[in-house]
Amino acid sequence: MKTIKIVNTASQLPEKIVSNDDLSKIMDTSDEWISSRTGIKNRHIAVEETTASLAAGVIKKLLLQSQVDPAEIGFIIVATMSPDSTAPAAAAKAEQLAGLNGIAAFDLNAACSGFAFAFTTASGLVNSLDCKYGIVIGSETLSKLVDWQDRRTAVLFGDGAGGVLVQAVDEDERLLASDLKTLAGDADYLTAGFLPRQGWGQKKLGSPYFQMDGHAVYSFATRQVSRSISDAFAKAKLKITDADWFLLHQANQRIIDKVADLLGVSQKFFLSSLKDYGNTSAASIPTLLDLSVKKGLVKRGQLIVFSGFGAGLSVGTVIYRY
Ligand code: ACO
Repeated sequence: MKTIKIVNTASQLPEKIVSNDDLSKIMDTSDEWISSRTGIKNRHIAVEETTASLAAGVIKKLLLQSQVDPAEIGFIIVATMSPDSTAPAAAAKAEQLAGLNGIAAFDLNAACSGFAFAFTTASGLVNSLDCKYGIVIGSETLSKLVDWQDRRTAVLFGDGAGGVLVQAVDEDERLLASDLKTLAGDADYLTAGFLPRQGWGQKKLGSPYFQMDGHAVYSFATRQVSRSISDAFAKAKLKITDADWFLLHQANQRIIDKVADLLGVSQKFFLSSLKDYGNTSAASIPTLLDLSVKKGLVKRGQLIVFSGFGAGLSVGTVIYRY
């Protein structure tokens, strides 16, 4: 069995930056409310960009930096809950926009847990497709799913994409454990994107806009993320203190800090990009990884933990030797 090694990382953010003060001009909110409750100050918002074009930007950067021959790439997975269309998939459109052809490209929707689910999927795919490389991306334009009149949700999100080029390797010590769960009994606490067209005679489904029970999601996230991380460490037969860095889904600084406390790990080991990016759903972990690699924080040989959580309600943790 082969496993996957991250060859390189890349991210692509929309040009437009919207600050909390900008938001306070269009809705009844304030920088003080948003930053004290979430840690968010700014977010990038797509104007011309799409989920597919952001993903294509990531693909181009990954290929340019690595000089890998596209003919050796077996798959492109785009983790997203905000594709531009249900068909073609964002991954297919991104492949086209990146000037590629013939690579298996598909979307994977596990909401904000998407990157952990897609990364784990990639480790199986390198074996079943017997390919040398693959690309795993999280790309989102949640700004189009948000009701810009709803201050309870609109202030939380940003758009962006991040991803990794992975290589099939024979080493045992790379992907050390994955823990993926969907607690579907709580599925209705977080919903978005019901399609407007209904079947004949059927009653209307939910809202197209992002809807969330913030308190229920907070309590789910803090309990289940800490449990998932502990379960993943047990599977890997490692101690939580062996980890160099924790890269949690960037939903809210309070959730990250609480998970650190519940695990008994210092908050300084939990990386954060909330201040500048907000919550970019499936893109938050790979953009944070790229940022942290480029800053020289995440280094080769370190033990890193990805843990995503969100709609489903889903939670996914990966323990990986970078
Ligand atoms: N600006 C100003 N006031 C606001 C805003 C805003 N943007 N949003 C809500 N308020 C008001 C509310 O109307 C309420 O006023 P009221 O008491 O007069 O009714 C008051 O602030 C408190 O509202 P709460 O919802 O209780 O605020 P809370 O302190 O719980 O913070 C938050 C809300 C940040 C969403 C919190 O519940 C939370 O962190 N939830 C976790 C969920 C999360 O982060 N989800 C992200 C998406 S999950 C995922 O990534 C898929």
